Amino acid sequence: MSAIVDTRAGERSLSVTWADGHTREFAYVWLRDNAREARHANGQKLIETAAIALDIRPESVRTDDNLEIQWQHESQPSSYDPDWLRNHGQHTSPTRQLWRGADFQHPLPRYSLPECQADHQTLCAMLDSVYRLGFAIVDHIPTSDKALFEVIDLFGYVRETNYGRLFDVRVEPNPSNMAFTSSTLSAHTDNPYRNPVPGLQLLHVLENSAEGGENTLVDGLWVAELMRREHPRAFEVLSSTEVDFRFQSDDADLHNRTTLIGVDHNGDANAVRFNNRSMQALDLPADDTHEFYAAHQLFSHLLEDDHHRVMFKLAAGEAMLFDNTRILHGRLGYAGGGQRHLQGCYADMDSLLSKLRVLQRKTTEPA
Ligand code: OGA
Ligand code: ZN
Repeated sequence: MSAIVDTRAGERSLSVTWADGHTREFAYVWLRDNAREARHANGQKLIETAAIALDIRPESVRTDDNLEIQWQHESQPSSYDPDWLRNHGQHTSPTRQLWRGADFQHPLPRYSLPECQADHQTLCAMLDSVYRLGFAIVDHIPTSDKALFEVIDLFGYVRETNYGRLFDVRVEPNPSNMAFTSSTLSAHTDNPYRNPVPGLQLLHVLENSAEGGENTLVDGLWVAELMRREHPRAFEVLSSTEVDFRFQSDDADLHNRTTLIGVDHNGDANAVRFNNRSMQALDLPADDTHEFYAAHQLFSHLLEDDHHRVMFKLAAGEAMLFDNTRILHGRLGYAGGGQRHLQGCYADMDSLLSKLRVLQRKTTEPA
């Protein structure tokens, strides 16, 4: 606990100094809004932020164990915990580690379903890997229909779509999607024609005795950052040109318009949407079109580069979970006659992160 040793009231803000000399400045309107008394024990705010006078000022400021402010024209004082005041806003999210396939230290992050079910620390490590590296492999899953839901049950909920709660990936006579053939699938993210796009994808192997059909994964954010460093103009084109993604069937017509690379307010890549199969014809002036194709091809080649991707072959009873906004997946073609059957489904990253935080809370709290 760090005590407050000094406060200085200014025109619109209060400067607070702690015992170690650290100083922070707080706007009065912010202080009124964030008074301890302004929140219910459940964490929800009780005050209407819009009702706070912007020219609110303290009548008096007192410090003992707490900071206490009596506001002008108000009857009740507001109080603040000095530690909370000092540390608020410092959310501890696990950091993401971008990776290049060739640097990946084998073995790949792999966890067993029964261990994840029985042991919180294993589950924590698995979920952390999905967030940090963007993927994890889970093995020892039954090879029965819908067993994939046992993996989802570890952390969250199925994101149901027009494909159902779960979809089968195997050779079909009249495939509605090239995934349901034995062809190679180049690196892609799933369903960029949805808004919001499914944040997590799971693919579970029920049978894989076919020759070929290796799985590939590549970190789209690592490749995007490589492009930004070495081919800044191509990066700019892919992060600023909106393209249309679409999926049509008898009962669905899904459409979303977005950029292939998403960027945050710093200009850093924070999302990738890349699916050549569902990208629609571009509608740009010819010169811009040519430049877009050059950038698209470059990105595509970098994504398929064996130094950048990892390749492995999931066996029956294994599944991979990956961040569908970051990691691109693909597969090599396989001998059409062989038996290969996967089931896939989608889920959301927010519930995975929520579960991870709750588990971490359990491991950091004293018993
Ligand atoms: C898919 C897909 C990969 C595979 O169904 O979305 O990419 O290994 N499948 O069959
Ligand atoms: Zn896919």
